Amino acid sequence: MLGVSGTQNLIPLLSRENGTGRGIKYYVPETRLQNAVFSCFSGGMGKLGQESVGEAAPRLIELLKRAYADEWFAHYNYFLASTRISGSYSDSVARLLVRKSRRNFEHAARLGTRIQQLGGEVVERLLALADHATDKPFKLPNEAWSIEPVLRAVLDAERTSIRTYSELHATAREVDPVTDRLVVALLNEAVAGEEQIERLLADDEPDMSGG
Ligand SMILES: [Fe+2]
Repeated sequence: MLGVSGTQNLIPLLSRENGTGRGIKYYVPETRLQNAVFSCFSGGMGKLGQESVGEAAPRLIELLKRAYADEWFAHYNYFLASTRISGSYSDSVARLLVRKSRRNFEHAARLGTRIQQLGGEVVERLLALADHATDKPFKLPNEAWSIEPVLRAVLDAERTSIRTYSELHATAREVDPVTDRLVVALLNEAVAGEEQIERLLADDEPDMSGG
């Protein structure tokens, strides 16, 4: 059951008809989702913590908001793509997309927490996310829903993340070790994601067992 262990309550995230008359259900551990959501509203950082970041804070907040918006777009679009793709291996690709969608939601929550700690505010209106996102936010291909164009759009999104987190790392590394630690972790994940999608696009029979 979709990377879940232990005895946590599971929230059904998606049901998908698998072509055999039996639906496939995907689940998210309740506590993990709650932790991600609640951490986004955990309040701001102390005065000393904010002062130590100093004049870099506005630029860091701007970049973190861009990353936050991109993560939300990826979260939604990966989920949407998982419900639409068809063809060989579409079930395993759908499971991969759901896992990646869930990870991006968690990334957005962690970025939201850091924005607030730095004295910024997370984007209040859903429609305003587009104003903060990268010029070229994740966009599903018109010819969706075959696997290859969807994976190419995912690859594009991973590369956008690599560029954004590299810029954040360059801005944060000298002045804000807390933000730097976060963005280096997210950068590592985006680099691994790029490699995984490149491998899948090169394979005839993709292995979707990774995260
Ligand atoms: Fe992400």
